[in-house]
Amino acid sequence: MIVPIDVSDFHQIVFFTGAGMSAESGVPTYRGKGGIWHKYNWEEYACQTAFEQNPQGVLDFHELRRIEALKCAPHNGHRIMTDLQKYHNHIWIVTQNIDGMHQRAGSQNTIELHGSLWRMRCDQEGKIIEDLQQSEYRSRKCSCGTWLRPDIIWFQDMLNEQVVSAANEVISSCDLFVSIGTSGVVWPAAGYPKMAKENGAYCIEINPETTELTYYFDRTVRQSASTGLWELFNLEVQT
Ligand code: APR
Repeated sequence: MIVPIDVSDFHQIVFFTGAGMSAESGVPTYRGKGGIWHKYNWEEYACQTAFEQNPQGVLDFHELRRIEALKCAPHNGHRIMTDLQKYHNHIWIVTQNIDGMHQRAGSQNTIELHGSLWRMRCDQEGKIIEDLQQSEYRSRKCSCGTWLRPDIIWFQDMLNEQVVSAANEVISSCDLFVSIGTSGVVWPAAGYPKMAKENGAYCIEINPETTELTYYFDRTVRQSASTGLWELFNLEVQT
């Protein structure tokens, strides 16, 4: 059994999550066994060029991902974060996940670095449209006639500047940084543990595997997300 963390010892806490956080809910990871990028070529399904060449195919692929996400439900690890946010006012979740699982678990203060499967965007009108709950997109085209694209950061896209600066702000000023279920190979997310560490945060990694980021952590928990969070925060979830 590991020594638990008392959140009241910290002023600002960031949970930084990747695909491994959702893996326990049944959502496939990207690079591990059964990972999405082993099955699908991102150049055909997850970049602007692919969308311009074959919007229907790219939208079909994202509808499949919505179907997968809707088959899954948040697990106890998600609920632990939600419960901790009830006890502590300065807990942020910075996630690379686009599946909306943290929000479905009731979490607040969630910064989605890579966008969301549940939003569409018209680049012609600069309009964002929420499209929640069902697998099929309500509409594939904007009222102006332009194809709507998933409001997701694809390969070769720039990240949204406002989202990145919000993430930088909470990470550089936190005193506890907990990374959960990310391989740490995608930038700028891969730089966050270093950023937190250099600004004085106590850094913990929860991941069954060693990662390229492991070096930056003061403590590593080689468990799955839900077991690691449960052991670390010693919290019974309210179901
Ligand atoms: N609990 C915790 N961690 C887990 C679990 C689990 N149950 N299962 C797997 N992991 C870990 C793996 O060991 C791996 O380190 O989750 C990590 C998943 O890594 P990736 O598949 O690379 O996912 P991620 O780091 O989130 O990818 C970042 O890359 O393709 C892009 O935009 C995509 O957001 C994604 C980004």
